[in-house]
Amino acid sequence: MQLSLNYALAGLALLAPNALALLRFSCSQLVVERLDPLVNPGVTASPHVHQVIGGNTFRPLMTPDVLDIPSEATCTTCTFADDFSNYWTAVLYFRARNGTYKRVQQKPNVGFEAAKGGMTIYYTPSYNGGKVTAFKPGFRMIVGDPTFRTEQQASQFRQLTYTCLQDAMTRTGETKDMPKKPCPAGIMANIRFPTCWNGKDLDPPDHSSHVAYPTSGTFESGGPCPATHPVKIPQLFYEVIWDTTPFNNPADWPEDGSQPFVWSYGDQTGYGNHGDYVFGWKGDALQQAMDTNCNINCPQLKSQSIQQGNQCSVKDTVGEDIDGWLTELPGAMPVTDASGNIIY
Ligand SMILES: *[C@@H]1O[C@H](CO)[C@@H](O)[C@H](O)[C@H]1NC(C)=O
Repeated sequence: MQLSLNYALAGLALLAPNALALLRFSCSQLVVERLDPLVNPGVTASPHVHQVIGGNTFRPLMTPDVLDIPSEATCTTCTFADDFSNYWTAVLYFRARNGTYKRVQQKPNVGFEAAKGGMTIYYTPSYNGGKVTAFKPGFRMIVGDPTFRTEQQASQFRQLTYTCLQDAMTRTGETKDMPKKPCPAGIMANIRFPTCWNGKDLDPPDHSSHVAYPTSGTFESGGPCPATHPVKIPQLFYEVIWDTTPFNNPADWPEDGSQPFVWSYGDQTGYGNHGDYVFGWKGDALQQAMDTNCNINCPQLKSQSIQQGNQCSVKDTVGEDIDGWLTELPGAMPVTDASGNIIY
């Protein structure tokens, strides 16, 4: 139940624009390349490929001491035009029987069809009223861990899941590991961040210990934040739809019955699912949106069309082939199992 709540609320929000303060919007692809300004600042290239959306100040080094995002960004791929944040995840690859890899393309959600790949972003203040504190300039965080390969490890993160899309509207049956059977309409990766903040750190060295989950219950049930992380922040949520449909022919799947999709960080299990966030909203636009009942049509916020968002991009600074039938994952990333052994 809980897992489909976001979607149910999004549906409700569509029907009754003033009922819920749930910000939901589309951001097109900005760039797909081997950069990771959070984990590998200044490094070209980072160990694995990412797909990135948001503002055009995305670059190898973008720490707050060298970059004031909202004052330097000139465009964003998001439909809320004051949102120059960057949001990124790993990239999914199909591994063919002959051992070569092909990048899986992304497709937009229903209602956002004009978007160039990208993701759907949600900021939910709360499900039962009550104020939240929007992220501050310089705030950055990561949820999930690309080294994880077991369900037990992945259970540290409550809400990193996959939906095997039977059709574009499927929102039930979320799993923590990669779907085991072909998904007729693709695989949706769901990345929900923790919703409690320690109120002090914008970006600690591990990029994650400044945020936490509610101590009991869930964000959705209004569970309280722990004393160490007392400040309620919006629930940031990414929906990323991977168009796996060109690879659904069982004859192309591994002969041993396993599933053929592999993350760019070398994970076949799916338990290493993770997402990265660099806050970059202009002024107090996000706080205003959180304080007001608005969602897809948020008159308080400056908007642009999906087509305008599609025009924003950044130069691919790494410039390597990520799209051919590759003999290895970009960066020669090995695929590893739970013991750290290399499988491929
Ligand atoms: C490997 O398999 C894929 C998918 O069938 C095919 O497109 C590609 O050409 C093959 N590559 C080689 C080197 O055989």
